[in-house]
Amino acid sequence: MAYDDVGRGPVVVLLHGYPFDRSMWREQIDFLSANGFRAIAPDLRGLGENRFDGEIATMDDMARDVAALMDELRIDQAVICGLSMGSYVAFEFVHLFPARVRALVLAGARAQGADEAERKSREDKAQQVLTDGIAPFVEAMLPDLLAPETLAEKPVVVARVREMILRTNLHGAAAAQRGMAARRDYSGDLSDINVPTLIIAGREDVVRKPDDAELIHRGITKSILEVIDDAGHLMNMEQPEIFNRMVVDFLRLLH
Ligand code: MLT
Repeated sequence: MAYDDVGRGPVVVLLHGYPFDRSMWREQIDFLSANGFRAIAPDLRGLGENRFDGEIATMDDMARDVAALMDELRIDQAVICGLSMGSYVAFEFVHLFPARVRALVLAGARAQGADEAERKSREDKAQQVLTDGIAPFVEAMLPDLLAPETLAEKPVVVARVREMILRTNLHGAAAAQRGMAARRDYSGDLSDINVPTLIIAGREDVVRKPDDAELIHRGITKSILEVIDDAGHLMNMEQPEIFNRMVVDFLRLLH
């Protein structure tokens, strides 16, 4: 499992979204490690620099991979921070290993499971990627992932996101789509989560509406909800200063 491990201090594990890799956390790794935290960002199963040719990578597989990495690094407990697909993995992780979670950060997150239509659409997308590759879809994806302001004014961020998507392993992409299609409905888990939880939503996120964040906020007793203006789904890359400040302020209250 490829990963970054930077800094010293309380551990924050950063779980990336889809179809991305750990490079999406670059600004968070830099900021957290400069502020007294140890940031660990793995490439999730099938994605980033990991080799993979399986049919499906479930959220459960990915959560167990993260636990195995923590074992290898001799880390008992960490703050688990996931964006989008990474938040599904975070939900699975806290369900499987509640004692290993000091706190949660859930960004661009959604608790509801996939209905029949979503499962079918994900299987279609998995097939398309295996047949045609990811390049034909990348330009159409960008307006869903990034706020209008980012698209208009932050060409470096747009280019980074485009390149990150284009280097996705096709088998890994299809396998993660199938894994997301097969994910559990996490809404029933929310009332069992009793660690401090920071929920962050991008006001312009069209993939995960702020309503999805509201639902999670209502379900987790010890949660706070923050919304970032002029940010879409990839809010941590679009507004890194604001995102980083929210996360570090939250972490400082814990330690
Ligand atoms: C992501 O950003 O991880 C994806 O949008 C997740 C999803 O497709 O549900």
